[in-house]
Amino acid sequence: MDLTGGSLYGQTPLDESESVGLKISMISTQGELNQFEQANIERAIKWLRGKTFTPAEVLSEEFVRRLHRRMFGEVWKWAGDFRRTEKNIGVSWVKVALELKILLEDTKYWIDHEVFPETEIAIRFKHRLVSIHCFPNGNGRHSRIMADVLMENVFVRRPFSWTGKQLSDPTSTRKAYINALREGDRGEFEALISFAQGTTP
Ligand SMILES: Nc1ncnc2c1ncn2[C@@H]1O[C@H](COP(=O)(O)OP(=O)(O)O)[C@@H](O)[C@H]1O
Ligand SMILES: [Mg+2]
Repeated sequence: MDLTGGSLYGQTPLDESESVGLKISMISTQGELNQFEQANIERAIKWLRGKTFTPAEVLSEEFVRRLHRRMFGEVWKWAGDFRRTEKNIGVSWVKVALELKILLEDTKYWIDHEVFPETEIAIRFKHRLVSIHCFPNGNGRHSRIMADVLMENVFVRRPFSWTGKQLSDPTSTRKAYINALREGDRGEFEALISFAQGTTP
């Protein structure tokens, strides 16, 4: 299966060295891959549900990587490892660890000093996390669950309502989501907040 083409709208194509990291040899189509990844992600969500984490635990490189490994580690050998290739989205790979550290520090500051409303902090964090693009793949799904972890563990609020949405397929919902991310690139977060809260029509 060729995973390097990136035919899906707004998807990151995999590098050759990354597509060989598939752990399950019986996967031969994109659909099967999606199913295995989804099953893995659901197990990660169950693992999260049984636990509480302090803000300091959540806002650490260790947690960011651990969650990615939990979400994709049954499918990909490189799950939880920062990328070592350049992508069309994201910072240069050599800067991933540094940019993540700055984001984690900024987010702690926003929380401690109530710089933005809680929901906006979770969304700004998610937006910048996916813009850094720490991992070879799965950054979108990982960043959405990270935002939910912030909502539940840091702010003790309900998670967002993106889990049920068809975001991996090129649907109109996905287009609305990508457009909202682009508004975030311009520093406007209202669209992404209403999308995450399920109030986008
Ligand atoms: N123009 C963009 N700016 C910022 N983020 C984007 C843009 N286009 C796509 N994305 C994000 O990148 C994700 C795709 O990266 P990828 O690592 O393939 O994640 P996943 O496999 O979970 O979809 C999208 O889901 C979206 O969250
Ligand atoms: Mg992807």
